[in-house]
Amino acid sequence: MNPQFQLFPDQASATAVHLDHLTIYLLSIAAFFSTLIFALIFFFAVKYRRRSGHERVSEIGHALPLEIAWSVIPFVLMMIMFTWGASVFFEMSRPPDDAMNIYVVGKQWMWKTQHLEGQREINELHVPLGRPVRLTMTSEDVIHSFYMPAFRVKFDVLPGKYTTAWFNPTRPGKYHLFCAEYCGTLHSGMIGWIHVMEPAEYERWLAGGAGGESLASSGQKLFEYLACANCHRTDKPGRCPNLTGLFGSKVQLTTGETVTADEAYVRESILNPGAKVVAGYQNIMPTFQGQVTEEDLLQLIEYVKSLAKQPAPPPPAPGAARAARRAEPKQNR
Ligand code: CUA
Repeated sequence: MNPQFQLFPDQASATAVHLDHLTIYLLSIAAFFSTLIFALIFFFAVKYRRRSGHERVSEIGHALPLEIAWSVIPFVLMMIMFTWGASVFFEMSRPPDDAMNIYVVGKQWMWKTQHLEGQREINELHVPLGRPVRLTMTSEDVIHSFYMPAFRVKFDVLPGKYTTAWFNPTRPGKYHLFCAEYCGTLHSGMIGWIHVMEPAEYERWLAGGAGGESLASSGQKLFEYLACANCHRTDKPGRCPNLTGLFGSKVQLTTGETVTADEAYVRESILNPGAKVVAGYQNIMPTFQGQVTEEDLLQLIEYVKSLAKQPAPPPPAPGAARAARRAEPKQNR
């Protein structure tokens, strides 16, 4: 047999092992019962074949133990499937709190990855061994799918939306990355490598290359370049909400609704500011749709996140924004 042949892809994460055990359980049950049913069909066909033209079938009553057995055994097997499947599903869908964040942007036809420290890669991703990695992913154009068989991670990457996936690499090495959603002519070329490195080696890799600036500080520059700071002031009340302490907090809107300020909220507020206006403020912010790329948005989000580490400002008193506008010196426009 071909020595390269593998029934299952490499298992490079704990989740991969858990998922494979579940798959083997499901396949074994399916194989056992398919074989049993097939064999019994043939066995009974022969055993109960019609032997003469005027044979009469004997009356069949019911057998209580048999009926209990064929109800209870499948029920137990199914309940094992359900609880086991649910626990693996929860494991896969909940990144641990200490996971490191890495951003992924898919576009026709490449994968762009960004580390918080500022390193950017194309069609490659370097991660340290034994540290959970949370991927926040979006697309610049069409639907792609981020597929790393060795970690059993496959998630659709959608335009205009963030999806998250996570994995904890448990074996150093180089593993395949594919796009698993047909996305146009060069879909088959939208592939790359995941490099799992020893932590010390990873630190060296991070320190080298042309990283330099963290995502949050690139975001801060962009924030100033786009003149966001004119209204979103941190030193005094401004015309727009103070972003200090915003990320992760609950925000009260003009509609009376309360939302959590997460990545999707910040992204929407930049591209479509009128969608969720904070209570006490007016819908005066212009859209930045078309002026910022998906990667710019991720940098801005990281900047807003970095502001969240500072304490939150008190919520605006009604009319505070108006008072602030009056107090602010007139600018030449
Ligand atoms: Cu991207 Cu297929």
